[in-house]
Amino acid sequence: MDCNCNVLITGATGYIGRRLKDRLLGHSELTIRLLVRNKRKVRPEVLSKVEVVEGDTFSPQALEAALAGIDVAFYLIHSMGSGQDFEERDRQSAAHFREACIAAGVKRLVYLGGLGVKATASRHLLSRIETGEILSAHPESLQTIWFRAGIIIGAGSASFEIIYNLLQKLPIMLTPKWLATKTQPVAVDDVLAYLKAAITVKVEGDLIVDIGGEAMSFRDMMLRAARVMGLQRLLVPVPVISPRLSSFWLILFTPIPYRMAAALIEGLKSETVLQNDYARRHFPEIKPLDYESAVAAAIAEMEDDQIVSRWCDSSNDLFCDIQHQDDPGTPILRDRQEILLHGLAPNLVYAAIKSIGGGGGWLAYDVLWRIRGFLDKLVGGYGLNRGRRQQKELRLGDALDFWKVADLKENKRVLLLAQMKVPGRAWLEFDIQDDRLVQTAHFHPRGLLGRLYWYSVWPFHGLVFKNLAQKIVERAASMSLLQNKPDVDETPAPQ
Ligand SMILES: NC(=O)c1ccc[n+]([C@@H]2O[C@H](COP(=O)([O-])OP(=O)(O)OC[C@H]3O[C@@H](n4cnc5c(N)ncnc54)[C@H](OP(=O)(O)O)[C@@H]3O)[C@@H](O)[C@H]2O)c1
Repeated sequence: MDCNCNVLITGATGYIGRRLKDRLLGHSELTIRLLVRNKRKVRPEVLSKVEVVEGDTFSPQALEAALAGIDVAFYLIHSMGSGQDFEERDRQSAAHFREACIAAGVKRLVYLGGLGVKATASRHLLSRIETGEILSAHPESLQTIWFRAGIIIGAGSASFEIIYNLLQKLPIMLTPKWLATKTQPVAVDDVLAYLKAAITVKVEGDLIVDIGGEAMSFRDMMLRAARVMGLQRLLVPVPVISPRLSSFWLILFTPIPYRMAAALIEGLKSETVLQNDYARRHFPEIKPLDYESAVAAAIAEMEDDQIVSRWCDSSNDLFCDIQHQDDPGTPILRDRQEILLHGLAPNLVYAAIKSIGGGGGWLAYDVLWRIRGFLDKLVGGYGLNRGRRQQKELRLGDALDFWKVADLKENKRVLLLAQMKVPGRAWLEFDIQDDRLVQTAHFHPRGLLGRLYWYSVWPFHGLVFKNLAQKIVERAASMSLLQNKPDVDETPAPQ
């Protein structure tokens, strides 16, 4: 295929799509268009370099606009987080996309799905296979290159965060028997290399390409990653550990919530190994990174605090993207705190707000936040240990412990949407006004339980929220002091 292509990336605000977009941006011969559900999730510096169509695969108009004149379309979408009927949503989404591609005369559709075979596939993997089958159902009208990847080793991938957190936190692990299952992990950079090469690879007809590195058991994956991390770890196989118990183990010690842990563990029970060697045959120039180097690269990205994308970047549902508005039909309960700024610059207050949570903690009464996080984990929520992508920067859609960033206005406003399990909807808003920081916790209660919840946590809010606002302003003040501190004179004193 000609290299001067018009390329559409869907899922460009998700884990893979965000990285692929960054990788393709450096190629001036490609014109990049993104189909995104919320344009504000695309960084301003990227907006100037790409075309963006706002909408989703359920909007015929958005698909028509997104696919007009496109040569190669990437399908990097899934609805796993959207609820119980995710399979049906994914079926419909894929069918709409395929038909719109055919109508627009797209030459090639590239899809990344999961590795594994139907007979032993988990519910999630089965849905990924179905998606591939639907996308490639009309080979006479649309060519499809369908990659299948298993565990992706990269900073921010759910599998890697699980491995990393378990190894960091547990010197000895009692492990279930399926830790002996074989898999072929692949480095995220290799995945991106294959996706990029798929734009130009010369191939007739459809292709299913299994990608992955060396085959190894999950147990070896853990032990070899521990060595890269410089840790000695002992894994003790205990055959009686049930999947349910393993899921609880994961939610306590890793950032992922119960539903995701259960889905991943279901997937780990069957082998995910390559079924064909088309990667080697059609993409001989790509030499998959060895496992240890992939782990080291992922750790370096984490340690540099430069994680590009994470498993929780997707909003799962549009509710994350709402502009917070008071709905006149629903009562809203509030906790409002105002702290005077005494001339502090708004950019410092904004920076202080953006630094809360994650590894740095919640500035005041951290233990109460931790208890709340732990309780959230117990009922299947995200809890606090989901952390944040980077410690200082926030991007719209970023996860921040059990919050999601729902609005950012430079030096003015940060709005966090609660993703903890609460009987209602909750937001935490920081508004920098002329002389004060106004911090408001908003709560739309659901029924009687919602109101009971709000009033039962009221005494804790009194402590936690008041002190949070105060500490943010104190942090901004100390940043201001540091900024204004005169440089130390390093000229040696005369002898
Ligand atoms: N991540 C892995 O470790 C991994 C491993 C193997 C295979 N894969 C495959 O790689 C593909 C991409 O996965 P991912 O992990 O990057 O997903 P992800 O992080 O969950 O992102 C999903 C993306 O799809 C978008 N989206 C969801 N429904 C949409 C719709 N109806 N219309 C338009 N956009 C929609 C989301 O937008 P919002 O931001 O608005 O939510 C988000 O950008 C999937 O097919 C997956 O099976 C991933």
